[in-house]
Formats: sequence, structure tokens, C-alpha cells
Amino acid sequence: MAYNLLKGKRGIIFGALDENSIAWKTAERVHEEGGTFVLTNAPIAMRMGSIKQLAEKTNAQIIPADATNLEDLEKLVEESMEILGGKIDFVLHSIGMSINVRKGRAYTDQNYDWTHKGLDVSAMSFHRVMQTLHKKDAMNEWGSIVALTYMAAQRVFPDYNDMADNKAYLESVARSFGYFFGKDRKVRVNTISQSPTPTTAGKGVKGFDAFINYAEKMSPLGNATALECADYTVTLFSDLTKKVTLQNLFHDGGFSNVGVSQEVIEKFE
Ligand SMILES: NC(=O)c1ccc[n+]([C@@H]2O[C@H](COP(=O)([O-])OP(=O)(O)OC[C@H]3O[C@@H](n4cnc5c(N)ncnc54)[C@H](O)[C@@H]3O)[C@@H](O)[C@H]2O)c1
Repeated sequence: MAYNLLKGKRGIIFGALDENSIAWKTAERVHEEGGTFVLTNAPIAMRMGSIKQLAEKTNAQIIPADATNLEDLEKLVEESMEILGGKIDFVLHSIGMSINVRKGRAYTDQNYDWTHKGLDVSAMSFHRVMQTLHKKDAMNEWGSIVALTYMAAQRVFPDYNDMADNKAYLESVARSFGYFFGKDRKVRVNTISQSPTPTTAGKGVKGFDAFINYAEKMSPLGNATALECADYTVTLFSDLTKKVTLQNLFHDGGFSNVGVSQEVIEKFE
């Protein structure tokens, strides 16, 4: 169902790789709600993924940008305002990558070059995106910026590896930059802490299949899907959530506040 919640709003959506991506579902939902946007991803993802199909479906243009490269981001923000015909109302940061995870390096045996790269891509990129938008005065008043995160920022999930630290940094940047963006421009900044979701990034984490089943059994409402995450993001981009800012918002079917569930108890009886 569509509610026209984003009619007339313009945005930038980072991180749609393929149809499983949370950013992909978000782009589809934002389009249904009347928003217009530019799609962006790292140049290498353009070759690997199928973002062109999404662009056609949602009448969006694609601007490649490596989220670790300031020049790319400056160009992206300038060109997006030209294409969309004005300042930006919403931004989705849906970017994550750890080389240590990808290459199976244990948390206790990090390759620090890889750790740096992962931090740069997954967390510092969020600061870079916001600093670029802020410096260029590219956001409209009452605009909304959302980044996606995971609960490993607060609690230990051993196989989440250095991504846990990256997410803790990301959530902190949301609060710190959100303060300045709120004061200076009335722009809100939040992170959504999403359930495990079967995407390219998600499935890269060791033991993902067992873990997603465990989370499903622990959550009174079950895991939140990528599409449900897209719906939640739409509400945060809409005018119905104007005073929600500096928050880390759990979107996980209740998982984060459950100690143990009946299903899990039964497994150990
Ligand atoms: N899948 C899950 O279980 C889960 C759970 C909670 C949070 N998240 C977060 O959701 C976000 C989106 O991930 P997803 O699960 O949709 O997976 P995904 O693999 O579809 O998306 C990750 C995206 O990051 C992009 N990216 C990587 N390096 C980049 C760079 N240098 N510049 C620009 N973009 C770059 C990739 O191209 C890809 O589009 C990530 O922040 C992820 O950590 C995922």
C-alpha cells in the first residue's frame, strides 16, 4: 500500500547492489511513496550488481561514487541537486564491508590495513557523506538522514568481527553529526538497527544461516525483513517523524529486549 508520504521529496540512496539489498527495497518503496532520488554505489558495484534495472524501474539516475572518496562525494551531491532540481530531503547510507570478515580473519588476528579499510568504508564514510552535505548546504530544513546498523555495536556477536566496532563508530557519528545538523539546519540523523537479513553483506558473516534462525526464534515478532526495513525508513524520511533525531532505532521484531524465548528454552530442555 502507498500513502504518498514522500511526495515532492528528493534524496540520495547509497548501497543498492542487487534486489536483496536493503537499499534496493528502500528505493522501490520511496518511489512508490512519491519520492525522487539519485542512486549511488561504488564504481566496482556498478559492474557486479544490477543497479541499472532498479534505476529504470524507479526513474532514477545513477551516479557512481566511492563513499571513501571526498571528491566523488562532492560531485555526487552537486550533480544530485542539479538532476533533482533542488536541495536534498532524505539520504540513506546503506554501506558496509569488512575485509577481515570476507577473508575469514579472526577478531584476535586482524590485518590492520583491512581493519582501516573496513572502518573507512563502513563508518567514516557516513561522516564524509554528512560533512559534504553540510558544507555544501545541500539539505533542506526538516530533511532526514538514515544509516543502517546492527546490534553488535552494543552486544557481542563474535563472528561479526571488526564490523561491530565499525557499527559502534557509525552510531556515534550519527549522534555527533546529528547534533550539528539539527542545530544548524533542522536536519535529523538516525540509525536503524536492523535484524539479520539475507543480503550479500549479511550472508558474508560466518554462521549467518544458524544465526538468522536463532534471531527468528528469539524475536516475538520474528525477524524484520529488508522490505519492512524499507517501510520503516520511509517513515523516518516522512514528515511524520520530524522530532526523532540522534537515535539508534531497533528494528528487529523485539530481539534486542529479549533475554530468552520459549523456543530457545525448549532446545535446551
Ligand atoms: N544484512 C544484514 O544482516 C544487516 C543487518 C543489519 C545492518 N545491515 C547493514 O545494512 C547496510 C546494507 O547492507 P545490505 O545487507 O543491504 O547488503 P548489500 O551487500 O546489499 O549492501 C552493501 C552495500 O555497500 C556498498 N559498498 C561497499 N563498499 C562501498 C564503497 N566504498 N562505496 C560505496 N558503497 C560501497 C556495496 O556495493 C553494497 O551495495 C549495511 O550497512 C549493513 O551493515 C545489514
